[in-house]
Amino acid sequence: MALKRISDSILYVGADDRTIDLFENQYPVSNGVTYNSYVIKDSKIAVMDTVDERATDQWFDNLEEAFEGKAPDYLVVSHLEPDHSGNIERFLKKYPDTIVVANAKTFAMLPQFIDIDVPEDKRFVAAEGTTLALGKHVLTFVMAPMVHWPEVMVEYESTEKVLFSADGFGTFGALGDRLKTSELENMPQSWADEARRYFINIVGKYGPSVQGLLKKASALDISVIAPLHGPVIDKDFDFYIDKYMRWSSYQPEEKGTVIAYSTLHGNTRKAALKLGDDLKKLSDEPVVVYDLSRDDCAKAVADSFRFDKLVLAGVTYDGGLMPCMEDFIYHLKMKNYQNRKAAVIENGSWGPVAGKLMTDALASFKNMNVCETKVTIKTRLNAKNESELSDLAKWLLN
Ligand code: FEO
Repeated sequence: MALKRISDSILYVGADDRTIDLFENQYPVSNGVTYNSYVIKDSKIAVMDTVDERATDQWFDNLEEAFEGKAPDYLVVSHLEPDHSGNIERFLKKYPDTIVVANAKTFAMLPQFIDIDVPEDKRFVAAEGTTLALGKHVLTFVMAPMVHWPEVMVEYESTEKVLFSADGFGTFGALGDRLKTSELENMPQSWADEARRYFINIVGKYGPSVQGLLKKASALDISVIAPLHGPVIDKDFDFYIDKYMRWSSYQPEEKGTVIAYSTLHGNTRKAALKLGDDLKKLSDEPVVVYDLSRDDCAKAVADSFRFDKLVLAGVTYDGGLMPCMEDFIYHLKMKNYQNRKAAVIENGSWGPVAGKLMTDALASFKNMNVCETKVTIKTRLNAKNESELSDLAKWLLN
């Protein structure tokens, strides 16, 4: 099959991985994931990053097809996380004359990832603003520390105006025989859900670093964004950049409510669903309900960042919270959840403490408007609770 390509000179040599179930051994990827890699063909040939070990054979086949019998001149290493550095060592053994292009931090960390030394005369040390001419194509290096590892850099190719954005603008999901967002259906909207789940959970903690990169990128004239996961973005740039601005500044994308519940026997679920029904009766705003025991925590976290309101409905368990609620709150905290309206529903057949624990957690986040009145259920919803839930729906929508 012919290689996918960005242009006549820039080929896609990455690979789909449909065999993986959990990315980073924690995020479900039912539609797989891609490990993107590109080859720029000019007087010199540059390979933009390697791929995960899981895609070794496919990648080397693609490289051979792209090289057409020539040898590569440069291997650019944007990011050392193993889903991109997994084949550096094999590549350098197969193409030992290649010059490795990386920044000083990357060269310092490289021995943690490979067992061979890169000799001094095979190193090109990139720094902020350094350029590398391949012929007509010229790469300019832009440092992007903590997006989301310290050594990350991105590259701007000024002739075709391509930003190689490392994990930035990446998303889950295999690509099949398509590459560009302009070739995919229901774009750009269909990109957002999985890109949000990817961004919030993987990069979300480092919002200020992403803002710094966006500021640098705003000075570039960009025609294509080529990330290390998911499709190459070739139109509707305002949509994608607006999403990144919101996600990285922890601002909600739209009005709506996430109700995340933990339940032992279903009574707290009934309260969560009742509140959801009350909200839907009062407004057309979206309401998304998550069972934290069963649903994808990463999706619940991502939707919590998407919408402007969050309700935690938790049962008291062993004098604390159910582990799934503890875990959810931990994830919110790790990803810098903030700037939202929130409320709490607690349940407890005796000595309920979940409400205080959840309220304290929410109040510890930045700039939160947490409802002062919590709904307390003693085992089963009663008429008073139903009235309180109706009032809570009104407060949330007020
Ligand atoms: Fe796709 Fe941070 O690795």
